[in-house]
Amino acid sequence: MARLESAELDLDVWPEPLPPPYPELQRRVKGVHGLLTLITDRIDAPLLDAAGPQLRVVSQMAVGVDNIDLAACTARGIPVGHTPGVLSDAVADLTIGLMIATARRFFEAHADMRAGRWTTWDPMGWTGPDLHGSTVGIIGLGRIGRAVARRLQGFNVRILYHNRHPSLHADALGATYVPLDTLLAESDFVSLHCPYTPETHHLINARALSLMKPTAILINTARGGVVDQDALLHALRSGEIWAAGLDVFTPEPLPPDHPLLALPNVVALPHIGSASIATRIKMAQMAVDNLLAGLAGQRLPHCANPEVYARA
Ligand code: GLV
Repeated sequence: MARLESAELDLDVWPEPLPPPYPELQRRVKGVHGLLTLITDRIDAPLLDAAGPQLRVVSQMAVGVDNIDLAACTARGIPVGHTPGVLSDAVADLTIGLMIATARRFFEAHADMRAGRWTTWDPMGWTGPDLHGSTVGIIGLGRIGRAVARRLQGFNVRILYHNRHPSLHADALGATYVPLDTLLAESDFVSLHCPYTPETHHLINARALSLMKPTAILINTARGGVVDQDALLHALRSGEIWAAGLDVFTPEPLPPDHPLLALPNVVALPHIGSASIATRIKMAQMAVDNLLAGLAGQRLPHCANPEVYARA
């Protein structure tokens, strides 16, 4: 905010902690030259049209841009900024944390302790599978998937991955490319790191879950929509898979009475993958860099739809 204020812009800042309702956003964007958005703002063709043809840039403070209709922006010549790279390590840290917290039942054990159920040292009490020595399947070996694979080097695991295209970085990470079904069938941990697109919508559906081992753990720090959540609920209840560690949901926020949150084999976090102080500050700086570049008619340093520049 300090940078934007000193840039002498005519700023309209949404003052509430909750996101602007869509109709309100649609009213307020009329005539703006730039938009700084969060993942909670739906930026679609009607919204861009409501803004008007003077709109020069949409800058999102996030790496994922599935809330933004990129094609509609490109068609109107509007570059979309995002924040890749600066959050990969923070999300990868959280992913490893979720793997261990889920496998080793941190929250279940903690809740039992608080409720007075720690009565003795039970030989098989609160036991779970090991991360070390396991097979980890990474779906999406992009920046975040690779940061997860780097961290896993210390755990003596076998890494499988699936991606749209085999990755040039895989060998250095000791990661083996396999078809999706092989990854699902062989992994003890399946971790999602792909963007949310029409192709990845419900990639993890009832069929995919049925291929996983009954001892396997699903980790999702990508987007809720990559998983068919009802199918996941069923798989967790029926023991088709062992547990899930989830940072993302459909919808967000997930209602507190959602049945997933009542399951002992779910570790759930409120979409905090990138929520380290330093990371969020870097994301904010990048979002401002992109916004100011776009307003000045310069190429965005980090553009999610670079094809927009090929049109000119
Ligand atoms: C957060 O989910 C992001 O995409 O940066």
